[in-house]
Amino acid sequence: MIMRWIALAAAGLLPGLTAAQDAQALHVASLAATCANCHGTQGRAVDGSVVPGLAGMPRDYMSTQLKAFKSGGRPATIMHQLSKGYSDAQIEQLATYFSAQKK
Ligand code: HEC
Repeated sequence: MIMRWIALAAAGLLPGLTAAQDAQALHVASLAATCANCHGTQGRAVDGSVVPGLAGMPRDYMSTQLKAFKSGGRPATIMHQLSKGYSDAQIEQLATYFSAQKK
């Protein structure tokens, strides 16, 4: 599927997006998909979930929290381990992605 979109974009069949922009958007979406198991599809937590939803979370708040988990400044049960796997640039991309999702 991803290869198909990249091929379409490369062929100029996706208007308004360059192949590079499209590939970048797919890369960020695949990073964000790794959060879905716990935070819900596209960051929309299921009703009654103890894990907070991420969709529509303010961008700056989210990147600050992820960096605090990563540095150990904010104690956590899980996120301090997970956040270490992301560069600061990826954290900014994730925060931008989720802040743009509808709750
Ligand atoms: C294995 C389950 C799991 C996965 C996967 C996961 N999280 Fe979390 N997340 C949690 C839990 C649990 C918390 C509450 C803090 C804690 O105890 O770790 C949390 C808290 C957070 C918070 C703080 C929310 C707040 O209201 O302050 C953010 C932001 C966050 N996660 C982002 C992410 C992002 C982005 C990803 C994907 C890169 C992700 N999480 C993947 C379980 C998960």
